[in-house]
Amino acid sequence: MIQVENLTKKFNGTPAVSDVSFSVEEGEVLGFLGPNGAGKTTTMRAITGFLPATSGRVTVGGFDVFASPIEARRRIGYLPEHPPLYAEMTVAGYLRFVARIKGVPSSDLGFELDRVMETARIDHMGGRIISRLSRGYRQRVGLAQALVGDPPVLILDEPTVGLDPKQIHEVRELIRSWKGRHTVVLSTHILPEVEQTCHRVAIIARGRIVAVGTPAHLVERLERAARIVMDVAAPAGEAAAALGGVPGVADVRVLDASDERARLEVEAAGVGADVEPELARAIVERGWGLFGMQSSTMSLEDIFLELTTDEPPGGEAAS
Ligand SMILES: Nc1ncnc2c1ncn2[C@@H]1O[C@H](COP(=O)(O)OP(=O)(O)OP(=O)(O)O)[C@@H](O)[C@H]1O
Ligand SMILES: [Mg+2]
Repeated sequence: MIQVENLTKKFNGTPAVSDVSFSVEEGEVLGFLGPNGAGKTTTMRAITGFLPATSGRVTVGGFDVFASPIEARRRIGYLPEHPPLYAEMTVAGYLRFVARIKGVPSSDLGFELDRVMETARIDHMGGRIISRLSRGYRQRVGLAQALVGDPPVLILDEPTVGLDPKQIHEVRELIRSWKGRHTVVLSTHILPEVEQTCHRVAIIARGRIVAVGTPAHLVERLERAARIVMDVAAPAGEAAAALGGVPGVADVRVLDASDERARLEVEAAGVGADVEPELARAIVERGWGLFGMQSSTMSLEDIFLELTTDEPPGGEAAS
């Protein structure tokens, strides 16, 4: 239903999103998980056609969002990060206005307003002035506005932001109830949110997708990863290079280094893969001393941080 191909968006020459590709099947809920500034909003704006891409292509329901914006947008309900609510309008007045823009026939207008207000649980708020609503209720008006016209595709940028725990629960339930009926892309910083509501998760960091899979698959893949801290008598750089060459090693960091001693942290892709004896061998067979080795498994939270935390300067240029 949604195809994103090699999407790149630069702002003043600086890439916010780099070569992102993914697709979303009809009826699927895809969660976009990533820290601040990762490129979630930029990607979502490109999908809705509001933001022209620097390069790459996005199609929704087979329509190119830039070549056929009207056809594509007709299929999309969009909850932006900051919904442009007309502050002085009433809730019902605003939603009626949105419905007209979206081409809902006047004969269906009353029914459609009742439907979206009930779905967003604001059916008792129709007469309220938007500027006087609490943040959570404004968010619900934003959600109602995305639902007007019952579009098959919903793009929801942080739909639970500003809601209280009960409302968060309700919105997650609501999204879950759409599985199979709407194709949804939602963004969030919150890990449990994607586990609870999404078929698949794309983890995005520094404008790139760093992992995609079902929540269960990601947890499984990520929980197999291990971190091993090693104390060695060797020049830090050479030891790091030797350990980095061991199969299964994803990353090596120097935690501490003095003249001939170093403490290194190795991240390995599989605890079950018996990487530890290989790491020990890589040190010992070069004639260096091995003073200590400690391993710990990484939690999903660790891995998420690991995948999404900024690389040291220069790290980005390499990829
Ligand atoms: N209109 C713009 N002009 C210049 N830079 C921008 C613009 N919009 C976004 N950026 C930059 O692009 C990068 C990605 O921003 P984006 O808003 O897509 O991140 P995000 O993942 O949605 O973050 P958050 O979780 O904070 O909402 C950031 O570095 C941001 O500063
Ligand atoms: Mg954002």
